[in-house]
Amino acid sequence: MILVSSANGAIGIDGVWKHFSEGLDALSAVERATWFVEDNEEDNSVGRGGLPNLDGEVELDASIMDGTTRSAGAVAGLKGYRHPISVARAVMEISPHVLIVGEGAARFAKEIGAERADLLTEKAAKIWREGLESLPEGLSGEILKKAKALTQDPDKAVGTVNFLAIDSKGKMASAVSTSGWAWKWPGRAGDSPVIGAGNYCDARFGAAACTGFGELSLRASTARTIVSYLSQGATPEEAGVRALLDLKDLDVDPSSMIMHSVIIGADGSHAAVSTDEKALYAWRDESCSSTQIERRIHVAV
Ligand code: GLY
Repeated sequence: MILVSSANGAIGIDGVWKHFSEGLDALSAVERATWFVEDNEEDNSVGRGGLPNLDGEVELDASIMDGTTRSAGAVAGLKGYRHPISVARAVMEISPHVLIVGEGAARFAKEIGAERADLLTEKAAKIWREGLESLPEGLSGEILKKAKALTQDPDKAVGTVNFLAIDSKGKMASAVSTSGWAWKWPGRAGDSPVIGAGNYCDARFGAAACTGFGELSLRASTARTIVSYLSQGATPEEAGVRALLDLKDLDVDPSSMIMHSVIIGADGSHAAVSTDEKALYAWRDESCSSTQIERRIHVAV
């Protein structure tokens, strides 16, 4: 039995651990753990409190995957709903689809009676306005160039939460939720809602999920690649290191080379890797009396 998350997910592990240790299944555990982060206004990369897009609107991406059946559900560019992860779960369980975006996602959320929320906090709006002050008036190539510089400021633009779980019956699940890059182009979808890029779970081998610049994991299918390496016999650490090294050849500005992955193996072993030497992750299993925060393995790319 184990729960692993990006460091900002520690509140979610704390929040669900009692129920998880008493038998809550892996899928519900990763969904409910995500709720805590989606409700955490101090986290400006997930749910309410997330930083908005270029137009000042908070657009949420989320995905969830059941490793036993490899069923998956996701939403992208969802506006106005408190728990995008639960809308993603409903996409998986109620609809015949895997990914629903934009207005269609909002219409689906309304149909299932998902809870609405005002996602933009004053704090997030202030950060957004301050960034925009550096932009020229009106839409032009110039605005795109400056917006690109803003969205590539790693202190402000990136974040996301990942959860991976194996429950007491050996079922495995993964969840990812994010407001994506701050000042992103309206309608931009990152890796978080894309199964294989930001999230992948296959109970036969393991699971992986990503945070960081989603454009990298979208191009390299990072989560799926990690699980492929697990399927070939790599440990979680080896699989994560190899997948991050795979990014080395991508043609990107070095300041955008930011990727972090959390990984579990089918046997409950776990690891986390990062291009940032200070990045942390969180985990807890039945041997621990509290959530553990640990340094990720640094991969220089
Ligand atoms: N990894 C989150 C994003 O790029 O949107």
